[in-house]
Amino acid sequence: MADIFERLLKNAGPLGQHRERAHGYFSFPKLEGEIGSRMKFRGKDMVVWSLNNYLGLANHPEVRKADADAAAAYGLASPMGARMMSGNSDQHEQLESELAAFVSKEDSILMNFGYQGIMSTIDAICGRHDIIVYDAESHACIIDGLRLHTGHRYVFKHNDLEDFEKQMQRATALIEKQSAGGILVITEGVFGMAGDQGKLKEIAALKNKYSFRLVVDDAHGFGTLGQTGAGAGEAQGCQDAIDLYFSTFAKSMASIGAFLAGDKAIIDFIRYNIRSQIFAKSLPMPLVIGNLKRLEMLRTMPELKEKLWSNALKLQAGLKERGFDIGKTDTPVTPVYMIGGVEEATAMVMDLRENYKIFCSIVIYPVIPKGHIIYRLIPTAAHTDADIQETLIAFTETKAKLDAGAYKVEAIPDMAEKK
Ligand SMILES: Cc1ncc(COP(=O)(O)O)c(C=O)c1O
Repeated sequence: MADIFERLLKNAGPLGQHRERAHGYFSFPKLEGEIGSRMKFRGKDMVVWSLNNYLGLANHPEVRKADADAAAAYGLASPMGARMMSGNSDQHEQLESELAAFVSKEDSILMNFGYQGIMSTIDAICGRHDIIVYDAESHACIIDGLRLHTGHRYVFKHNDLEDFEKQMQRATALIEKQSAGGILVITEGVFGMAGDQGKLKEIAALKNKYSFRLVVDDAHGFGTLGQTGAGAGEAQGCQDAIDLYFSTFAKSMASIGAFLAGDKAIIDFIRYNIRSQIFAKSLPMPLVIGNLKRLEMLRTMPELKEKLWSNALKLQAGLKERGFDIGKTDTPVTPVYMIGGVEEATAMVMDLRENYKIFCSIVIYPVIPKGHIIYRLIPTAAHTDADIQETLIAFTETKAKLDAGAYKVEAIPDMAEKK
């Protein structure tokens, strides 16, 4: 019989295999100091492009004060227990109704984490006869939610409407054959890696042709898209057709938690059937009060979203002018596509961090195909023109070095934190 732990020690996994050289640098880096566009990494000041602090709220003095006051008033424990048993409060319910009103839905439910929330929503609303049709580039929380689903699922090619219809026809035929079940379509408002919006308007229009309910994970769209900041559905003019609208608080709201909004009767059903909330302690009061403050600022300070977009457009235009491939983004998420091996990519990131003082996230094999490198830059309202200019120069110079083969190293440089 195999010893499970022995097997884990022999094969650390696709990313874990680099742990000894990468830990604390390429993976699990520690950014220190006040959250903002410049933070310290290994003692050096860096321009940081890795945080989803879109509106710059993370360190806003009013947010910090609201968080501190709420923590002083309530501590972290309050309210104790799950919402259903003893952990409910007026403030939790106030946040739910304010969020629902903001995204033009009747009601909403709070979740402690978006990841578990989406998984558990899928589990709560789908039965074994139901079929889930979902986008191929869906976030891991949707994929893991599908693992809980005991019925069929069909994946459509990313944002490909022709394939979407093909999968809908397969799903419809199966439902008719079973004479039971319905179809749930799940997609995203913004795909967080490439920055392209989900084709919500087009999918919504297909409700005339197929029978389905639509769930949208708008983690990156909430606060960044739409005239009021209500997200991708608002931006595309199809918020009404989204049956369940989801966002985390981990991005524009710079906090923790998430919510799901929809028709009151359906949200009530979910409230009484979502296992990740029924069997877990409720969101602590300082987070609820802190999120009420953030939502108020998101609603009343449009200048934050304007600054975010002005920075995003400056960064994206600068990259395009310099010949960089930033793909199909139509949101602030800014991917930069390059060609190179894993080792080259790590040497380039080191050069960017050590010599140019630019800190950004990098995506490499096995997350994407071998030979490709994606740098992922997240502009925020907190970035300055100087941050953008320094970054454009750094990218231009390091890309020239990459093309000249200057980063061809044998192995991933050993940058692990030595204790
Ligand atoms: C698209 C998407 N959905 C869900 C989540 C998970 O949210 P949370 O961090 O609240 O668990 C994330 C990441 O934060 C995300 O990017």
